[in-house]
Amino acid sequence: MPDLAAATRGRILFGGDYNPEQWPEETWHEDVRLMKDAGVNSVTLGVFSWSKLEPHPGAREFGWLDTLMDLMHDHGIGVVLATPTSSPPPWMGRLHPDTLPVTEDGRTEWWGGRQHFSHSSATYRRYAAAITEDLAARYGGHPALTMWHINNEYCTFDHGDQAAAAFRRWLREKYGTLDALNTAWGTAFWSQGYDSWDGILPPRLPHYMKNPTQVLDFRRFTSDMLLECYVAERDIVRRHTPHIPVTTNFMPLWFGQDAWRWAEEEDVVSVDLYPDPRDPLGAQNGALVQDMTRSQARGPWVLMEQAAGPVNWRGVNHPKPRGLNRLWSLQAVARGADAVCYFQWRQSRQGAEKFHSGMVSHAGEEGRTYQEVKQLGAELARIAPHVTGRHITADVAVLHDWHSWWAGAQDGRLSTRADYPDVLRAWHRALWEAHLTTDFAHPEHDLTPYTVVVVPQLYALTDAAIDNLLAYVRGGGTLVCGFLTGIADEDDRVRPGGMDARLRELFGIRTLHEWWPLDAGETVACEGFRGTLWSEEIEAAEDAETIPYQGGELDGLPAVLRRGRAWYVSTLPEPDALRDLLARIAAGAGVRPVLDAIPAGVEAVRRGDLLFLLNHGREAVTVEVPGSHRDLLSGSTMRDEVTLGRYGVVVLQS
Ligand code: GLA
Repeated sequence: MPDLAAATRGRILFGGDYNPEQWPEETWHEDVRLMKDAGVNSVTLGVFSWSKLEPHPGAREFGWLDTLMDLMHDHGIGVVLATPTSSPPPWMGRLHPDTLPVTEDGRTEWWGGRQHFSHSSATYRRYAAAITEDLAARYGGHPALTMWHINNEYCTFDHGDQAAAAFRRWLREKYGTLDALNTAWGTAFWSQGYDSWDGILPPRLPHYMKNPTQVLDFRRFTSDMLLECYVAERDIVRRHTPHIPVTTNFMPLWFGQDAWRWAEEEDVVSVDLYPDPRDPLGAQNGALVQDMTRSQARGPWVLMEQAAGPVNWRGVNHPKPRGLNRLWSLQAVARGADAVCYFQWRQSRQGAEKFHSGMVSHAGEEGRTYQEVKQLGAELARIAPHVTGRHITADVAVLHDWHSWWAGAQDGRLSTRADYPDVLRAWHRALWEAHLTTDFAHPEHDLTPYTVVVVPQLYALTDAAIDNLLAYVRGGGTLVCGFLTGIADEDDRVRPGGMDARLRELFGIRTLHEWWPLDAGETVACEGFRGTLWSEEIEAAEDAETIPYQGGELDGLPAVLRRGRAWYVSTLPEPDALRDLLARIAAGAGVRPVLDAIPAGVEAVRRGDLLFLLNHGREAVTVEVPGSHRDLLSGSTMRDEVTLGRYGVVVLQS
């Protein structure tokens, strides 16, 4: 299968979504001039072009796209060509209401926005296949084509009648018999036993709480159905162009999609990333998504969308201060991206996103945004030959699994405050701040490449995953698990004893008596630190080493347990404490930070033989880097130390 290198050919792809259909033709020529000046070498065309390409059912209007493909090629700009299937034309909903999705409370999602398609609709799928087929036939041989971009941010749900029929088919395949389904769903509870497949529905709005396993299966089903839509289009383009890589753009840490599973079906993994410029943890949160995407890609990946300035979908939307766009773009490259792209090239004058930034803002060529983009384009071109295709080696893996997230994110929990993504972010942040390079992995992946494996929270684990964790520790690995791990099986059935017995034995937990969630603002004292969010009443086994809770109801009981190389942390330590704990455990296992004595707020990443240093602060800092190095960005040589200004970056080659 072709990979990202087939599209980059030694360059860092730089560019963005280009929506020329919103502009008169004169602007296209202006666009190409500005693109060339900024070093843009890649544009994504056609993401929302369906009504332009097929203004009436079955019609084909390719002339404008022919012109643009040629224009791009004439100027040496590659095209990532999108299938337009995320936003069907209005005629489709009007003529075929069966293509429209339905919400859990029975509302139809109408045209007039976007992503108003039912993944289960045979009509939608037929039209999507037809336009994909014709696009692939027409442009498969075009020299500008570098990559296929299927749909856009698959993220829809459907609770309508077609989805109900498809859900039943999916469940029949999974369970075979109604008895098996009734057992898995625990339908003895609240008189939910099914006597017929026809009685089974998507989890529509009930009077009171939903059946959790029904909800869990529906989430699995939805991810699978969207994946079927992707695979159908992918197979069409692949048939025409087996040498052109295929991708679809993920949303970061998106709830609705098992991205481990999806990534297996892609030639190239890409993600859209929009940290809030005002978020003091924007860099940490960005790093999490970058590490996760790199791990799904098992190598270089594509930053398909970011914003050059403000987005327009938060309550208050801030621009990026001078230098931040460069910093976060280079952060992505440091963490494995071989493409730095944006939504979108030119800021729209109309439509719902006219206040969302573009690489060319309303201020145009003279605007700061474009000027900074241009500087970045030149810098990316400079470092590209040394960077593209290079890998990152991590000694630490963080485990993450969508099924466990789905199982845990249900009504009827002991605390809605113990939100999984927050817990995941807290643990990854601790590793980031300890300067430990981390991959992500699925709990059933081969963990032997890692010295330390960290599980912030895996509420539901399969037996295979538990076996994998046990084998990992037996084989010499160090495992650190956070609270609410190993509680349920894959049907969301609580394991006897409230936590899997093998894991309890591994960590030295004799009895898990009660969970004690903490309220907002409430903390719990532990020896040497404070815990937040959660605490547990645990009786330790005799041979477990422990760090105790101090005072309160849990006084003297273990907050942290350790048995050999297996650690269990029953609360969420405050950020500095979690960082120090993980740094200590990693050091004990022989894992060193990227550099010693890195100032706070500086990020250090090794990619291939390069050392990236990024200052996320507004104050200048000096970093000790023994030896002599050349900074590929500035061309200057540095010895033993490097001073980084506000948002400063160096890419050092020794
Ligand atoms: C997503 C979409 C784009 C655009 C941006 C705005 O990433 O894919 O089409 O709407 O959001 O941030």
